Amino acid sequence: MAFPTETVYGLGADALNEKAVARIYEAKGRPTNHPLIVHISAIDKLDMWAKDIPEYAIKLARNFWPGPMTLVLPKTDLAKDFITGEQDNIGVRVPAHSVALSLLKEFEVQGGFGIAAPSANRFGKVSPTSVDDVKVELTDYLKSDDLILDGGQSFVGLESTIIDCTKITPVILRPGAVTSAMIKDLLGIQVEGILEDNPDFIRVPGLLESHYSPTAKVYLSGNPSAGDGFIALSKHLTPDGVIRLISPVTNEDYARTLYQGLRLADSKKLSKVFVVAPTGDDIAVAICDRLKKAAYKG
Ligand code: TXA
Ligand code: MG
Repeated sequence: MAFPTETVYGLGADALNEKAVARIYEAKGRPTNHPLIVHISAIDKLDMWAKDIPEYAIKLARNFWPGPMTLVLPKTDLAKDFITGEQDNIGVRVPAHSVALSLLKEFEVQGGFGIAAPSANRFGKVSPTSVDDVKVELTDYLKSDDLILDGGQSFVGLESTIIDCTKITPVILRPGAVTSAMIKDLLGIQVEGILEDNPDFIRVPGLLESHYSPTAKVYLSGNPSAGDGFIALSKHLTPDGVIRLISPVTNEDYARTLYQGLRLADSKKLSKVFVVAPTGDDIAVAICDRLKKAAYKG
């Protein structure tokens, strides 16, 4: 079943049902050693999935859940290898979306423990932020009775911040709307970003391969020609003859609409998109991370 969250749409299955989870990997075309995030309805369900939870992780959860943040913690026995990619830790998140929360609560009432869900796109492609996007990605790979819940346009538009909480201090594995400055404000400690050459982190998306990529080639430098696509904040004028895909006013707008812009390039069958990346230490960090990974590496 696909369902909305505030970040992007997820493709969900009962996190305890091996067959159902196997169908997620199949529909996405995703290698099975890439672990899945388990979604729960509230912080009080966290200790079913995670143990040895450090104080700072509890603070993070109390502050930013429900919200666009995934905590990676040592797993309990409930979390099986088919969820964790045989790692001994687990990613858990409480999403801030009324449809997702209703779904999770109802699932728990019926005896469920959590819903495992990656973004509802084919492996390596752009995450969906609306029901139409999910259909473009997965119609050919879902069964006719698989549900797609409609929760409108995802409000954040980029995947959650993933924070490794298995060490003495938190490490950001994937930047998102919960920024390192917000974490530092809360905890009073400097958080580390991921070291891209650290082999421990190969399972974080997009570090070793191209990810978040549309069919159109994405360029972060150079000049567009007539007929190419263009993505930039509204303060940047559109060069003559170039096709403006989005024109966000703020970095938050940029995050919310970036994937729509990349998808629009593909639906218009453009071969190249030129992007002016935003700057700043807010959600711009996450936007730049995704753009770097989406960029054409030819
Ligand atoms: O916003 C989000 O996080 C969305 C919505 C649906 O919740 N989900 C999402 O899932 O982006 P996914 O699977 O597309 O990306 C999560 C990435 C995975 O590619 C995996 O590499 C990494 O998070 N991940 C998951 N569990 C992990 C773990 N235990 N340790 C390290 N990385 C993990
Ligand atoms: Mg994904």
